[in-house]
Amino acid sequence: MERIVVDGDTRVLVLTGAGVSAESGIPTFRDANGLWENHPVEQVASPGGFAADPLLVWRFYSQRREGASRCRPNGGHEALAKLEAALGDRFLLATQNVDGLHRDAGNTRLVEMHGNLFMSRCAMCDYGPEEDRTVYPAGEVPGCAACHGRGEFGILRPHIVWFGEALDPADLYRIEAFMRAAARGRFVFLAAGTSGVVYPAAGLVDRARAMGAETWLVNLDPPDNVGAFEHFVRGRSGEVLPTLFDVV
Ligand code: OAD
Repeated sequence: MERIVVDGDTRVLVLTGAGVSAESGIPTFRDANGLWENHPVEQVASPGGFAADPLLVWRFYSQRREGASRCRPNGGHEALAKLEAALGDRFLLATQNVDGLHRDAGNTRLVEMHGNLFMSRCAMCDYGPEEDRTVYPAGEVPGCAACHGRGEFGILRPHIVWFGEALDPADLYRIEAFMRAAARGRFVFLAAGTSGVVYPAAGLVDRARAMGAETWLVNLDPPDNVGAFEHFVRGRSGEVLPTLFDVV
């Protein structure tokens, strides 16, 4: 198997997707056919869906919290935590996953581009995001304590970037700033476990290449944008990542 040589002049930007958590027991998006209990995912993961039926949306996210809280990081997460420990500020991990498993594994130089399943914020005022691991009983929509203190009726929503919503510009800026610094030396871009269909994450490989990065992909199947990568290692990330890096 090809390996990525990481020397003292190398910066590494990693992008992960649902495939990296698959071996921890979290189903990937495309595997579920985009449906949850026969509802299109867009219905339970969009601002319009939340406005129309917040009870349904909270049932969906409560189930996901319950499922994800039983899952533990796998060898792929652990390999990325080890790489960060070796590289320090020469490493950045951008993830599309909201399950928190990269944090659990120990990564701190981490951008959770699509939010975090275990955080909530008020849908109306500027309360949060705050840690919230609550699994709400069916039929219950959590109220916002800050709003209620003012005699208003704000409700909490999951701190997730939904379909139709923009990513936090501060997150995108942090990734861009890392790429600019990386472009001054040797720059490695690695994507793992992602189908490369959801933007802007899917466009990071093109940006990285334009900035001179060596580009790598670790994935179970070749995704649509496989041609954008110079190196493709086909396999499970939990098995491939632990032996992929040759830190010299
Ligand atoms: P997908 O479900 O689209 O893709 C997962 C990819 O991982 C597929 O290409 C699989 O072949 C691959 N895969 C599965 N198991 C694997 C394993 N053990 N090792 C390596 N690869 C494996 O998930 P994402 O690309 O993460 O957005 O989806 C991107 C975004 O689409 C998600 O973040 C979500 C969704 O809309 C939001 O929720 C905002």
